[in-house]
This record gives sequence, C-alpha cells and structure tokens, in this order.
Amino acid sequence: MASVDSTGLSVSGRRTSGDLLHAGLAVALLLGVWSVGGLEVLTGKVSSIEAMNGSTVLLPCTYASCIGIKDLYFNWHYNDNGTMMKLCDATIPMEGVEPRVSVYHDRVDFVGSSKKNNISILLWNITFEDQGEYICFARNRKEKNRNHSAVITLIVVDQMREIDNTLTTIIVSVVGGVIGLVIFVMVIKALVVHFLLKDDEKNKECLVSSSGNDNTENGLTGAKGDNKGTPKA
Ligand SMILES: *[C@@H]1O[C@H](CO)[C@@H](O)[C@H](O)[C@H]1NC(C)=O
Ligand SMILES: *[C@@H]1O[C@H](CO)[C@@H](O)[C@H](O)[C@H]1NC(C)=O
Ligand SMILES: *[C@@H]1O[C@H](CO)[C@@H](O)[C@H](O)[C@H]1NC(C)=O
Ligand SMILES: *[C@@H]1O[C@H](CO)[C@@H](O)[C@H](O)[C@H]1NC(C)=O
Ligand SMILES: *[C@@H]1O[C@H](CO)[C@@H](O)[C@H](O)[C@H]1NC(C)=O
Repeated sequence: MASVDSTGLSVSGRRTSGDLLHAGLAVALLLGVWSVGGLEVLTGKVSSIEAMNGSTVLLPCTYASCIGIKDLYFNWHYNDNGTMMKLCDATIPMEGVEPRVSVYHDRVDFVGSSKKNNISILLWNITFEDQGEYICFARNRKEKNRNHSAVITLIVVDQMREIDNTLTTIIVSVVGGVIGLVIFVMVIKALVVHFLLKDDEKNKECLVSSSGNDNTENGLTGAKGDNKGTPKA
C-alpha cells in the first residue's frame, strides 16, 4: 500500500514541475514575442522522459519562428555532470531545406525534418550513464543570432526494479487480502463458536437435569417415555 502511495506522490510532483515549466515556457514565449518575435525552441509537453535501460529513446525538439528562418544553426548537447558534450549539429539554410547533420555520438541518429520544424534525435540502447539533461539549442541568423534552447531530462529506470515493484505490490495485496480473510474467518468462527457453546451449555443443562431425574442411558425423549412407562409396568 505504501509503495502505491509514494508513486502517486512522485507522479503528482512531476506533473506540478511540468506545469511550472509550462508557465515558464509561456512567460518565455510572451517575452520572446514581445522583444523579438523570433525563434522558439521546444522539447514538447514533458520536461523529462523516463525510459528503461537498453531501450531507444526519442529526444524531441521543434522550433517555430514567426519571422522565418535563415541559416538556422542548431545542435544537441548532453550535460555530462557539468561538461557539455556535443552530440550533433547542423545548419538549415532556409525553410524546407533538409540540413546535413554532423553526428558526434555513435548512438545518436538525427530523425528530424525541416519540413516539420523537427530537430529531434534518437538515442539508441541507453544505459544508466545516459541519464541527465539534453539541451536542444538553435540560433537564427534572421534574428541577429540570438541563442535559444530547451532542456529535456532523461531518466533511466531499471527493468528489473520495475518488475520488482509490481511484484512487491502484488505480494503486499495478496498477503493483505489473505490476512483480511483470515481475520474475517476468525471473527465468524469466534461468533459461531460463541453461539454454539451457548447452545451446548443449554443442552448440557437439560441433559443433566433430566438424566438426574430419570437415571437412564437414553436421550431426553427416551427418558420421558421411560418416566411415563414405569408406573404402568
Ligand atoms: C538493465 O540493468 C540491469 C541491472 O543493471 C541489467 O541486469 C539488465 O541486463 C539491463 N538491461 C539491459 C537491456 O541492458
Ligand atoms: C559530478 O560532479 C560532482 C562534483 O561536481 C562529483 O562529486 C561527482 O562525483 C560527479 N559525478 C559523476 C558521475 O561524475
Ligand atoms: C543497439 O543494440 C543492438 C543489440 O545489442 C545492436 O544490434 C545495435 O547495433 C545497437 N545500436 C546502436 C546504434 O548502437
Ligand atoms: C519529429 O520526428 C520524429 C521522427 O520522425 C517523430 O517521431 C516525432 O514525433 C516528431 N516530433 C514532432 C513534434 O513532430
Ligand atoms: C550564444 O551561444 C554561443 C555558444 O553557442 C556563445 O558563444 C554566445 O556568446 C551566445 N550568445 C549570447 C548572446 O548568449
């Protein structure tokens, strides 16, 4: 039960931080439009991605510009504990022209398309070492090379631990259910025994009193029969 509660909490916490990010993005967007009316770089609705080790993840990033683009330079960096590691970079000469992307990481593939303003990358076969911040950066010549970037955090989870968690939940539920059932059965049994005992005591009382009077080996009815029969004989 406790594990379910904690996951619920962490999920809601993440959602809150996502909302905060949205508010931040909205403010940034407003300010950006206000001052420049230029490029916007976005990593989508979520600020973090959770994926299992060994899987392949899409690190999403898109750009938008109301004044159009010219020689849009972009790159992806991985924040390796403070030191920035460049994953890839390219320049999009103009709208709709596909960039020639240079990739500096052997497990990174560029999967974007300038027709969809998409500069996403794939990261193959992730390990726990790949955890951290990925920064999508873009700079548009049309707006005096102002810098724009968006950050997405990759969280790598262990497949085994996830299974363990579900297993723990199942075990806790089953054990809890069984304990509940046992308590229920015990209560019912106690009640039944209680009433049966009462009945038994009544029966015993009857038996004792009647046998005391009649002094026969037979039951109550037999004793009565004998009692009536003796005077006749
Ligand atoms: C994920 O990590 C666990 C523990 O380190 C390991 O046993 C497992 O083989 C890994 N899975 C993959 C697909 O690499
Ligand atoms: C990250 O940097 C901190 C200090 O800045 C250091 O203590 C820590 O060991 C580093 N972690 C890794 C995984 O390199
Ligand atoms: C990812 O792992 C699979 C299986 O281990 C391997 O065949 C593939 O080449 C790897 N891909 C990359 C980009 O490293
Ligand atoms: C960007 O392109 C990739 C690969 O085609 C796709 O999976 C992803 O959904 C696209 N992202 C957006 C926001 O269109
Ligand atoms: C933009 O980023 C580049 C590095 O990519 C840096 O050298 C430059 O100073 C930045 N410009 C501004 C205005 O922040």
